[in-house]
Amino acid sequence: MRKLSLLVIVMAAFLALVACSSATSTTEETASNTSTEAKTMENLTVGYAQIGAESEWRTANTASIKETAEKLGVDLKFSDAQQKQENQIAAIRSYIAEGVDVIGFSPVVETGWETVLQEAKDAGIPVIMVDRRADVPRELYATYLGSDFVEEGRKAGEEMNRLLPDGGKIVELVGTVGSAPANDRYTGFRDSMAENIEIIDSQSGDFTRAKGKEVMEAFLKNYGDEIVGLYAHNDDMAIGAIQAIEEYGLKPGEDIKIVSIDAVRGAFEAMIDGKLNVTVECNPLLGPQFYDLALRAVNGEELPEWVPSEESVYYPDKAEELLPERQY
Ligand code: AHR
Repeated sequence: MRKLSLLVIVMAAFLALVACSSATSTTEETASNTSTEAKTMENLTVGYAQIGAESEWRTANTASIKETAEKLGVDLKFSDAQQKQENQIAAIRSYIAEGVDVIGFSPVVETGWETVLQEAKDAGIPVIMVDRRADVPRELYATYLGSDFVEEGRKAGEEMNRLLPDGGKIVELVGTVGSAPANDRYTGFRDSMAENIEIIDSQSGDFTRAKGKEVMEAFLKNYGDEIVGLYAHNDDMAIGAIQAIEEYGLKPGEDIKIVSIDAVRGAFEAMIDGKLNVTVECNPLLGPQFYDLALRAVNGEELPEWVPSEESVYYPDKAEELLPERQY
């Protein structure tokens, strides 16, 4: 009898243990189900490390990132690195420490990102490169959303060939040294440039109006009216250079043919005034595509290595008609 009651006690204890462990695993399952529940825009937290505010293009790009977040209900943490890589790296580190769901950034230059991107990967936070690409291994980023800068350079080269059928000496205003758009627009232009065109000088204007003007003044001082063409890697530098050309006493768009890149409103205004000959579009309105990709990355979707943005080329003849509908 005593043996029987001992057996009953042991069995009861065993059953209690099983019940308890299955209760624990149910709680764990519920917890893990909750943590793997698909994210939505409304509960998505994004850290965005912007380059700065160096151009009209960048201003439009920032507005697109901020306005789209507000529209979608995304919690956006935004920082402006004032064109300094160390500031962008510090911002990315702070987003990792805060535990955001996803990080977006436009690398100011192409190199020097491996360490911080590895830190993001170790923390399980997907990173999306927007507008500019960094030279890093594929496993360190979820996708790159942006333009084909080499193609933009090629289009600019073809336009210069058309504007200068007899060839001649031209100068080049390069973007930020070491940045993807500066490197690729430099290469693309040379890919398509005709043999009778000679680039007699090429200097960085750091994508800003002030620097573009300053460097163009130096070009004019050194080469004067030998210069028949200017290729500027962005509209802001071209607009600064236009001022320098006028102050020097030449006619921009006539004495010196000008091709630039971006297609911002300022470029349309310059084309209407006959001071700029062509602008090749680089689309800054990347906000909607960025958040779509961000959500997909957070929810575990494999994304393509590159999502290219669509772009056109604009000429003075349609500038007046198109200006009112330009959003940037
Ligand atoms: O990365 C895109 C480039 O950066 C734009 O062409 C230029 O205007 C900007 O500053």
